[in-house]
Amino acid sequence: MKSAKPYIEEHKQRFLDELLELLKIPSISADSAYKQDVIKTARAIKEALQNAGCDTVEICETPGYPIVFGEKIIDPELPTVLVYGHYDVQPPDPLDLWDSPPFDPVIKKTDLHPEGAIFARGACDDKGQMYMHVKALEFMTRTEQLPCNVKFMIEGEEEVGSASLGWFVERNREKLANDVILISDTGMIANDVPSITTGLRGLSYVEVEVTGPNRDLHSGLYGGAVANPVNVLAKMIASLHDENNHITIPGFYDQVQEASEEERSKMAEAPFSIEKYKKALDIDDVYGEVGYSTNERNSIRPTLDVNGIWGGYTGEGAKTVIASKAYAKISMRLVPDQDWKKITNLFKDHFENIAPKGVRVTVKPHHGGQAYVTPIDSIGYRAAEKAYEKTFGKTPIPQRSGGSIPIVALFEKELNSKTILMGFGLDSDAIHSPNEHFGIWNYLKGIETIPQFYHYFTEMSQ
Ligand code: BES
Ligand code: MN
Ligand code: MN
Repeated sequence: MKSAKPYIEEHKQRFLDELLELLKIPSISADSAYKQDVIKTARAIKEALQNAGCDTVEICETPGYPIVFGEKIIDPELPTVLVYGHYDVQPPDPLDLWDSPPFDPVIKKTDLHPEGAIFARGACDDKGQMYMHVKALEFMTRTEQLPCNVKFMIEGEEEVGSASLGWFVERNREKLANDVILISDTGMIANDVPSITTGLRGLSYVEVEVTGPNRDLHSGLYGGAVANPVNVLAKMIASLHDENNHITIPGFYDQVQEASEEERSKMAEAPFSIEKYKKALDIDDVYGEVGYSTNERNSIRPTLDVNGIWGGYTGEGAKTVIASKAYAKISMRLVPDQDWKKITNLFKDHFENIAPKGVRVTVKPHHGGQAYVTPIDSIGYRAAEKAYEKTFGKTPIPQRSGGSIPIVALFEKELNSKTILMGFGLDSDAIHSPNEHFGIWNYLKGIETIPQFYHYFTEMSQ
């Protein structure tokens, strides 16, 4: 495989312009007001895949948003790479914290991206990273170097739990048959410290509701005499961690696979500065489970976090009121071998159990998924390693990530193949936050590295 560098150099501006167009469509899967835009994005992806050289591309309807499926089969005897990505994005709010409108992409330089970064919702997660694969395919087909078969499966519900993707995969095992799944929807340590993601955490996401009196009450007339749902909820949530920041739900850690001392000392070798970490977040200290390092806390350990909490009066000024109801949304990040459905039930039982008399508590499970770890001796991992060596001039470091792509564990189960997570974003790219961005260098480096993966994977599979 020849280097894609000259081709990228020649088509750089178009590669950028095409991505900017895609980023202008607000494909927010969580908000039904954007339904037409989500569907419009699926159509745009279909066209992009056709232009990049896929022989067939279809928009596959599902009970939810459609899945774009494209393929180019050059020889059934050759291996097949299945590329997965998502075209939906997170809601952009809070809007006032963006320096430029989230769906009006602009290019600006940053300390970590001296060559410029694209600022827009979805720039990194995942339109930008997904589009690298489309452009890598274009390079391989236009220069007649595609070494194997390729399938694309790009979904529109990743940010809301991939419900329809499970449905689709179960019904299309034959169509999706592959030798390796390739995903760029994670990150790497730094532009000069390439890494390959070898693990993802699982997830259990729940919503809780605490109901006290049958109506909002005057906080003077009733205060102190009835359970205040907001006070009670705060107390219940606080009790979910002990003084060492261990989670107190009985049985929560039963299935947790403890990392070996060897794995932990290997992890500790990855370059990391706690001082830079604190500085980047403007915090005077880190916080977490006693006995584990920051990088362990955010990758190999399970966690429980409130993602949102509300109830009572939150408008301007002061209103003296005891609310009838209080709510919270809670995520638990899970590790091998915790079962997300079991954990959801443990949470529900425990949370209902600790509710004091005077309130009623309901727990509503949202979505979830299993954690994933991939070995570093598979053909796929070794091919990815060689690809990075070629384009970065360095051996990538295997790194377990704290984020979740719940569908990956299901892929392994249903399609019986390993997933390779070649992420090119940085943690500081602010995915899910205001001012999300993706380095232009990273975008182009991805386009350069992906074809090398195809090359080595095909060569090593024979
Ligand atoms: N691409 C992210 C996951 C990710 C980011 C993994 C960086 C590793 C490193 C994905 O789009 C995402 O946001 N996943 C959600 C879960 C989903 C069920 C909403 C997450 O991790 O919160
Ligand atoms: Mn993503
Ligand atoms: Mn995301």
